[in-house]
Amino acid sequence: MHVIESPQEMHALAQEWRRGGHTIGLVPTMGALHAGHLELIRRARAAAGRVIVSIYVNPAQFAPTEDLAQYPRPRRTDMALCLTCGVDAVFTPPDLYESGHSTWVMEEELSQGRDGGSRPGHFRGVTTVVLKLFNITQPDAAWFGQKDAQQLDVIRRMVRDLNVPVRIHPVETVRDRDGLALSSRNVYLSDEEREIALALPRGLADAVRQPNPIGWLRDKLSATPGVQLDYVEAAQGRLCAAVRVGTTRLIDNVPLPTEP
Ligand code: PAF
Repeated sequence: MHVIESPQEMHALAQEWRRGGHTIGLVPTMGALHAGHLELIRRARAAAGRVIVSIYVNPAQFAPTEDLAQYPRPRRTDMALCLTCGVDAVFTPPDLYESGHSTWVMEEELSQGRDGGSRPGHFRGVTTVVLKLFNITQPDAAWFGQKDAQQLDVIRRMVRDLNVPVRIHPVETVRDRDGLALSSRNVYLSDEEREIALALPRGLADAVRQPNPIGWLRDKLSATPGVQLDYVEAAQGRLCAAVRVGTTRLIDNVPLPTEP
């Protein structure tokens, strides 16, 4: 397995693979890999000749008040997991922004509201880094988790609007046995907070069986002790919600039943 820090070196290896007739699959991550990431890697491994996992905690998608400094970075475990999963290259640049970086990619419709509303500038950072990663790793296809539903929609729109020749594959959310969606941020939760956090997946699962899922879930989460509601909204056929438990922000979504 190649472990590459330099964008130039990563690009050269990707070009060499392409010249050799290999297809390339990219799984972009910020590390702290969990079973959700491993599922993305498994899908990429099954579909592409060469698999690249990028591990980069992208400062541009964190607001100054957010958890950039605390974000978990278990590098050795991540490398071991990538090796076990048959990854061909891990791209782990120390930094991806030149000093004086002044070019940004902004999607202006789907990035509004929900996480874009609560985290101003977040999606500008995501689209910019994802396009940079695509340019560096030259993938035919990339895999993203459905848990970050708005991110997935924004990236698909960017790829469509900017004619980026990369196929985007969504992968359904992987959950722990108790139903909590896997997230690198779950490690921030104390045992007690984790119990409280289960109100989110359980609420979503119950809400889609109600006549008014949005109103029902808003009321339910607002009334749950220890849960601070951020939003409940329907988008792209899914019921989406974000809450805060202690200092940890959690997001999740489930498909809404289709009208008969
Ligand atoms: O979903 C993530 O982990 C990040 O937002 C991504 C897509 C790797 C961009 O930094």
